Amino acid sequence: MHYVTVIGSGNVGANTAFFIAEKGITDVALYDIRDGIATGKGLDMMEAAPIRKYRNRIWPAKTLDVIADTETVILTAGKVRSPGMKREDLFEENRSIVAELAPEIARLAPDARILIATEPVDLITTEFARLCGLDRSRIMGIGGCLDVTRLRYFASRELGLSPENISATVIGRHSDAMIAILRYCSVSGLPLTSLLSEEQQNKIVEQTRRAGDLIVGMAQRASAFYAPSAAIADLVDAIHMD
Ligand code: FUM
Repeated sequence: MHYVTVIGSGNVGANTAFFIAEKGITDVALYDIRDGIATGKGLDMMEAAPIRKYRNRIWPAKTLDVIADTETVILTAGKVRSPGMKREDLFEENRSIVAELAPEIARLAPDARILIATEPVDLITTEFARLCGLDRSRIMGIGGCLDVTRLRYFASRELGLSPENISATVIGRHSDAMIAILRYCSVSGLPLTSLLSEEQQNKIVEQTRRAGDLIVGMAQRASAFYAPSAAIADLVDAIHMD
């Protein structure tokens, strides 16, 4: 049986499971250290399947042993920001969660790919790679994919065009230091730089850099999770379709 495992059933974890199942990518095992959360949310999502028409299963895992047979482990466990916090403020607390999980994941799933969404994502991904000792090329943070979908959206909004026709490339940290490579961004093959003024280009890059902060500031005790989950599901889809 093919499945991925999502560790952490908060907003990002649960919604990632939902997007993966709904897109028909593969089955999902949902694990959370808090008893009942994965079972309740998994059941809720499966009850939507007849209407949303997905056949993939989302099922709760009782123990972390579930990852022994999984192809991809998606790590979303950890605290999220409250308004006024920087991503880096989460580092110590989330690092200790990851420090407990890393050796277990390395022992149980040494050949799996590991996708990391726990914030601050680049620092946690680096720390996870250091602690688990696995092949680093199999360990990926999801920040770049998230920044790309956001940049595509802001470009589409600026241009009044469909976001799916826009492609984008970014490098660097998932932070206000993110670098958009605008000469590699395009709209149905046309360079974005030929369609937007320099002022508009700077605006959409800045919107992308600040997107996570803006949502934390507005969303009342939640940080962004729809776009992060979509970014993870897209990455899982790319991996599973090879
Ligand atoms: O709270 C957060 O750090 C969320 C990240 C993001 O949405 O980019």
